[in-house]
Amino acid sequence: MDINLIQEKIENELAGVISPQALEEVRVKYLGRKGLIAELTGSIPMLPIDKRGGFGKEVNALKIKVLNLIEEKERSLKNQDSAAKKNNIDIGMPGIAQRPGSLHPITHIIDEICTIFNRMGFSVLEGPEVETEYNNFTGLNIPLDHPSRDAFDTFYLKKYAKSLLRSHTSPVQVRAMKTAKPPLAIIVPGRVYRPDAVDASHLFMFHQIEGILVDRNIKFSDLKGTLEMFTKNVFGKDIKMRFRPHFFPFTEPSAEVDISCIICCGKGCSVCGRKGWLEILGAGMIHPNVFKHVGYDAKKYTGFAFGMGIERIAMLKYGINDIRLFFENDLRFLKQF
Ligand code: DAH
Repeated sequence: MDINLIQEKIENELAGVISPQALEEVRVKYLGRKGLIAELTGSIPMLPIDKRGGFGKEVNALKIKVLNLIEEKERSLKNQDSAAKKNNIDIGMPGIAQRPGSLHPITHIIDEICTIFNRMGFSVLEGPEVETEYNNFTGLNIPLDHPSRDAFDTFYLKKYAKSLLRSHTSPVQVRAMKTAKPPLAIIVPGRVYRPDAVDASHLFMFHQIEGILVDRNIKFSDLKGTLEMFTKNVFGKDIKMRFRPHFFPFTEPSAEVDISCIICCGKGCSVCGRKGWLEILGAGMIHPNVFKHVGYDAKKYTGFAFGMGIERIAMLKYGINDIRLFFENDLRFLKQF
């Protein structure tokens, strides 16, 4: 038997000892009456005569070494104990578990949606939350005196003329098209602001994701196919999607897009207002006037755009019935994601 190996093993075991009870166990295991060292000593008479002397010495040296190590450990445990007592720490108490943090559900959904569009070749772009009146309205074919502006109630900034907190992510369309030539496929997540009274479905700040695709020959069917891919990836492959005619100043034709109700699967329930459908986004073919504002040739290029509220998507996907929960930062809510 290799005495050095045994010594190494005992040293390792002692390093892991943190209580006097565990130390006593180690002591008994090696130095006790029936311990390993007694066993080794007992085996000496069985050895050939010429091996006995050398082996006996080794076992003896091991015994002394182990005695010293145990004594040393005893002292260090005592020191630790008195230091802990001085600081009023009970080292026997269970520790306070630290729960690892997790992503906010909104961040989670943004990541998920961006990944889906990434896979279809869209790149992610962000824009500023303080915007010009031009990018938020005029560039998007919403003239100053046009009644459609009322639909986009807006926080204006007093300090800087013609600047505001963007009321949708659509102004990033204008920024993107002004800085790059087609083909262009981008997706824009971000915060938007509207002076709405707060209730279970409204906040004055929320998130949207905007998407645009511009190239030669982009058709309405491309929009449908892209959004179908998106809805099936987020809500499951059995989800149905439908387009309803609508009006947005920056698209023509425009549509609102519904998915079959994820609660009742289209039969009609309280979540979908007995309609069987849930509205999830606005979309359409980019209006030629928007192209004119950014200097794109509307005869050469066509494109589609869409925009959706992220909180709404998250509420539908996770079955959350109050938008305020997202920003109260109650850990009982947040830790579920
Ligand atoms: N900006 C619109 C809103 O906030 C949403 C929207 C609708 C964006 C249609 C689009 C679109 O890009 O084509 O209500």
